[in-house]
Amino acid sequence: MRRAISLTVLSALAGLAQAQDTNHFDCGNFLQFGADINQTRAAFTQSPETMAWNWFVCLNQPNATQSSNRVWELMKPSDQVYLPNGAPPGLYDARVMPPNAVLQQARDHGMDLSRAFHNINAIQQVDGLILQMGGAVPNAQRGNPVRFQLLMGKDTFDYIVKNKVYNVNGQAALATGLDFPPTAWELKAAWLWIGFDTTYQAQLANDGYFIAQAYYQQEDGQYQVGYAALSGLHVVNKLSPNWVWTTFENINNRKYTVTNDTPAAPMANSTGPTAAAEPVNASFQANNPTLSQYELIGVEYKPIKQVLANSQLESAFQNTSSCLACHSTAAYSNNDGYFNFALNQGGGIVYPTAPLPASDFNGYKKLDFVWSLKRAQWQR
Ligand code: HEC
Repeated sequence: MRRAISLTVLSALAGLAQAQDTNHFDCGNFLQFGADINQTRAAFTQSPETMAWNWFVCLNQPNATQSSNRVWELMKPSDQVYLPNGAPPGLYDARVMPPNAVLQQARDHGMDLSRAFHNINAIQQVDGLILQMGGAVPNAQRGNPVRFQLLMGKDTFDYIVKNKVYNVNGQAALATGLDFPPTAWELKAAWLWIGFDTTYQAQLANDGYFIAQAYYQQEDGQYQVGYAALSGLHVVNKLSPNWVWTTFENINNRKYTVTNDTPAAPMANSTGPTAAAEPVNASFQANNPTLSQYELIGVEYKPIKQVLANSQLESAFQNTSSCLACHSTAAYSNNDGYFNFALNQGGGIVYPTAPLPASDFNGYKKLDFVWSLKRAQWQR
């Protein structure tokens, strides 16, 4: 009973209270970790799962100045950072409108041009495979891939620009490894494509999916425009030296996505929710109606042997997926290119589930866990 706690105890717990209170976490300045980062660190250590959920709630609030978008939707998409010609990116806040061909279709369908249009071109997961939609999806979507995108916060973006590592030339020119600031944030979002099927959209909305406006370019150059449902979201930041790795997904995903087995089975998460995440999920779901169908799968931040995956983003290799271990291999060598994290084991491919020894990286420059840097192109 909060009211029964004395004032002295309350003020002594002030730092921790922020993390433990599922209703009154202060979202103001949360991307900078509030007024005192060490207080936030203490609260995080007390309950990483609670802090992860608080961040998730803050990220999903309406943006202060552009309230038709959620805070995270206005973060910088990686395709505006790693440009095809390796040129310097525009300003962080400069809003890049989608191509005219997309806007035309959007107008024809009465979409909201003041809301974000997510470019969800990516379909290949880290193991090179795709995740198929199936189960309760309309015939038109059956077998089509779940799509995803990467986004970064302002301090991540500014660091990349300042160090000129938005192209490979800049990465090749580095004398040493990278060291992002603690306030660096990054996201990876997974989406179920809806298009303009209003019945299917209503079904997904009813299952608590967040629905956004999106588009992607087909191989023939034509654009698909329509609505998409958020099925998974990785949220990471550098509050801790090995970064903090959190991942959320909709609890109904197994109804809409399938394994690549024959016959296909519903795609489930085999890594969580962890025991520590379960009670925290229950309390935040109850307090946040718009997020009540999302669950935290777990949090990683210690450099130990462990697995954590999102069923939508590390679908087929969940048992060998460790966010922290795989991202800790992010490295570039002028002679050998990007570090290869695929390990041969017993005739199959596995991924590291604990950080690899430093000696594996002789001749490499560490990229501070940021694997999206692999998307950089040579400047021509
Ligand atoms: C086996 C390696 C591997 C594992 C395991 C892995 N990732 Fe990644 N991750 C990558 C690669 C490679 C990229 C870049 C993908 C791209 O460019 O499309 C990436 C991209 C990301 C990004 C976008 C920003 C960035 O760092 O580049 C985030 C955020 C992210 N991953 C979080 C996670 C989380 C959270 C987990 C665990 C639940 C996880 N990853 C598991 C390899 C991995």
